[in-house]
Amino acid sequence: MDRIERVRDLRERVGAWRSAGERVALVPTMGNLHAGHLRLVREARARAERVVATVFVNPLQFGPGEDLDAYPRTLAEDQRQLAGEGCDLLFAPRTSEVYPRGQEIQTRVEVPGLSDILCGATRPGHFAGVATVVCKLLNMAQPDVALFGEKDFQQLLVIRRLVEDLDMPVEIVGVATVREADGLAMSSRNGYLDAGERLRAPALYQALRQAGESLRQGESIERVERAATEAILESGLRPDYLSVRVASDLSPAHSGDADLVILGAAYLGRARLIDNLRLTLDSG
Ligand code: PAF
Repeated sequence: MDRIERVRDLRERVGAWRSAGERVALVPTMGNLHAGHLRLVREARARAERVVATVFVNPLQFGPGEDLDAYPRTLAEDQRQLAGEGCDLLFAPRTSEVYPRGQEIQTRVEVPGLSDILCGATRPGHFAGVATVVCKLLNMAQPDVALFGEKDFQQLLVIRRLVEDLDMPVEIVGVATVREADGLAMSSRNGYLDAGERLRAPALYQALRQAGESLRQGESIERVERAATEAILESGLRPDYLSVRVASDLSPAHSGDADLVILGAAYLGRARLIDNLRLTLDSG
């Protein structure tokens, strides 16, 4: 599997495949790959003849004081893992290739509303950074399909919305979260946890599951959110938000809504953990 850095080389390789009638899948990542990313590659291979992965730590989606400098960069190991999964090409551009005029005057893609709630409320500008780089990566590679993890559920909806709103001819596929044996959602940022924190980290997912169970039993949304937030706090995590939302657009859920997602974020040591649980209730 080759690794390339230039957009023109990416275009040339993908263009040749598409001219030969091959479908191309794109798996955008920020590297430091884990089993969740490798599942994206496997799902991509099931949907297309050719798979391109990208590794780019996108500075535009990190706020001031966030972990841009500390974010783990493990390109050689990422390349080895991608090759092992049968990925065809790795695009790992430099920042100057993605933002040649600099980040300040880079044209931005905004997805209003969806970007301002939940994680967007805590991390202003984050989803504009994600939407901008994803839009650019899709335009650079011009794949038939692109795959993203459902762990970042809000990000997935932002990307679906931008692709729809900008009439981009690409299919967006969400792929189920991969979890550690104790339920913790896999994330490149789990490496920030020390041994004691790692033992406490599954509390977020446990709280989501308990919340789902309570909703199934007919408990009110407000009480469920309050109890789950308290459970997270008691486990030694600092909750950012815990919220029951309508899965299609992340609007606040009301009694009678059936297709739900419970989303949570919490701080633990140097890490900010996020996770979610989909839930379908009887609407009757
Ligand atoms: O989910 C990620 O790893 C990133 O937000 C993405 C989609 C690769 C954009 O930088």
